[in-house]
Amino acid sequence: MSCETASRNATEPTPGVAPGGEGLDARAIAAEIGRTGVHPLLPATIPGMDAPFYQAGLAGYSDAAMRIIARRHGCPLCVTEALLDRTLLAGGRGFAKADLGELHDNVPGGEDDHPLVGQIMGSDPGEMAAAAIKMVEQGARRPKEYRKLAEGGELAIEHTSESSFQAIDINLACPVKKIAKKARGGHWLAEPDGAIDILKAVRDALPESMPLTLKIRRSFDDTPEMARNFMRIFDAAYDLGYAWATVHARTVQQKYVGPSRWDLLRDIVQQRPGRVVFGSGDIWKVQDIFRMIGYTGVAGVSVARGCIGNPWIFRQARAMMAGDEPRPPTIAEQRQVLEDHFELALRVNSGMRDPEHHTGKTMRKFAIRFAQHHPAGDEVRKRFIGVKGLEDWRGVLGEWYATDSLGKST
Ligand SMILES: Cc1cc2nc3c(=O)[nH]c(=O)nc-3n(C[C@H](O)[C@H](O)[C@H](O)COP(=O)(O)O)c2cc1C
Repeated sequence: MSCETASRNATEPTPGVAPGGEGLDARAIAAEIGRTGVHPLLPATIPGMDAPFYQAGLAGYSDAAMRIIARRHGCPLCVTEALLDRTLLAGGRGFAKADLGELHDNVPGGEDDHPLVGQIMGSDPGEMAAAAIKMVEQGARRPKEYRKLAEGGELAIEHTSESSFQAIDINLACPVKKIAKKARGGHWLAEPDGAIDILKAVRDALPESMPLTLKIRRSFDDTPEMARNFMRIFDAAYDLGYAWATVHARTVQQKYVGPSRWDLLRDIVQQRPGRVVFGSGDIWKVQDIFRMIGYTGVAGVSVARGCIGNPWIFRQARAMMAGDEPRPPTIAEQRQVLEDHFELALRVNSGMRDPEHHTGKTMRKFAIRFAQHHPAGDEVRKRFIGVKGLEDWRGVLGEWYATDSLGKST
């Protein structure tokens, strides 16, 4: 179960709806943030968060390998993909994927995937609270004990030693359909009381020292009733002590299709001054990060599809904050990332039956996106599609990313 949907990439990259925002100068906005710094609540919540963006949860993509690559390019914070509370409680594959202990064992300098926000999603307040505890504790107790917690046990953290997670994010945004008439993800926007019960149960279960954040769509659909539901849930989150909400400026009904409404996101921010809001939707290139901040007034931006196969967006954002021109990756830089990403993915997948085959398959999705930086993008993409394992991967790199192109910009 994940937030992926068949239509997720149905729309060609288009700008978010931002009437009047045409003249915004992304360069000036970035440089201004570089001079003045980010909103103080960002580093107060996530120590070290010194830039107004993070890498979004992206089901099927944003595993530890993608996250570490993003961090190496200047991304100050990453969020895991949404894990269903039940998957977590069952100790299934979902949790193993988020269990960074496994990766730490394999990656030299295992602190590379830090800071990290763990995202959960579900249908029942008790299960969500128990899942949040299990995530923070990284499954330190026996699986049966977490199940008991979900069924009415005393919801409290026992294992307070270093968690890999610096915050927990509640997903009220995923558009994947309800199962057995039970709401989850974005479907809670049609049932605000249930959504608030979940927010409260998780907040009550975790110590105050563990920050909570919320991922939410701007509405379920475009009716006034659903817009009101959004405001109720959004306000409740802050009243309960959630540090911030990331608002995806599309409706749940839209899934990932059609433009996001930066104008409506701006209205939300203006109606609730003083609240730290992150924005999401139609961040395709580095300038969009700063245009969204400048137009809507959000404190920061969640980078999603715009960073798949494009970790350089983070480096470019940092360059713009320093007042420099963002530059595209050289062929040599692309090759380095392609090599590193495959190697990291192999480690992440080392527990699987055939890690190389699995990694070859997952890396194809990335390669298609990485190829767009190459001057012969179409041909390179076609070659990557045939990749089955590390040898094939290296073959494409040798053929198309030869070191004699070192230093050449695309
Ligand atoms: C393939 C895919 C998987 C996603 N998985 C998640 C997820 O697990 N958790 C989450 O909060 N958002 C998820 N999202 C939503 C993104 O974080 C983001 O809100 C959305 O893509 C809008 O931003 P964009 O238009 O800039 O891509 C996913 C989006 C896509 C396309």
